Amino acid sequence: MAEKVLSWVDERLGLTGVYNLIFDRKVPKVNWWFTLGSATLFLFFLQIVTGVFLTVYYVPSPDHAYDSIQYIMNGVTFGWLIRGIHHWGASLMVVFVFAHMLRTFFMAAYKFPREITWFTGVFLLLSTVGMGFTGYLLPWNQRAYWATTVGTEIAGTMPLVGGFIERVLRGGNDLSAVTLARFFAVHIWFFPAIIAGLLAIHLYLVIRIGISAPPKRDE
Ligand code: HEM
Repeated sequence: MAEKVLSWVDERLGLTGVYNLIFDRKVPKVNWWFTLGSATLFLFFLQIVTGVFLTVYYVPSPDHAYDSIQYIMNGVTFGWLIRGIHHWGASLMVVFVFAHMLRTFFMAAYKFPREITWFTGVFLLLSTVGMGFTGYLLPWNQRAYWATTVGTEIAGTMPLVGGFIERVLRGGNDLSAVTLARFFAVHIWFFPAIIAGLLAIHLYLVIRIGISAPPKRDE
């Protein structure tokens, strides 16, 4: 019965074809270094799921941000776990995306015909770091406040455009409710949307071109 229903659905949606295309591809004999991209992808999904749960209780205003995090940690059932996964997952994602980049660099996987895979990867790396930077302010504690003060100040030291960029990042001359609101918006909407778009191209290319084989000594 279940088989009949499945084949009825499959006849209409063609899901077997999609499944075969994505998971039943021919891959060269590879090693554990080639799993770093998938590990990063997994961490990205984990960040999305835990992040969505965190927004249920987190309040992005200077009056409530700190207390809402305290409540997530101490009052919400398994809140500490969800926040803990999101917190450590963020650091892990940066480590993994960097390791994945090093792997593709040292195995020369960025060469023809994978230049665009590398190119989208560069922006994926920058966006991942951007997620970390914007997320760091959200707990609105002393460390978050001063780290962002210093971070935005560093951007301000850029010649010519520095002052402008610093004001745009802060939404004024100093850190305020506006800074927190825009960091929150960029953290939960802008960067995730950018990463999702870039990933669509990145993974489409991985499937279309196929994965590179580890380079050999005589190549
Ligand atoms: C959110 C970040 C990223 C995710 C989720 C991701 C995901 C993936 C996945 C699943 C693959 C398949 C092969 C593998 O896992 O090694 C891959 C391949 C590749 N990625 Fe990424 N990637 C990311 C960031 C980057 C970055 C930062 C770079 C470099 C700047 C990069 C460059 C490449 C290249 C060149 C390939 C082709 C590798 C080959 O064919 O051997 N990626 N990526």
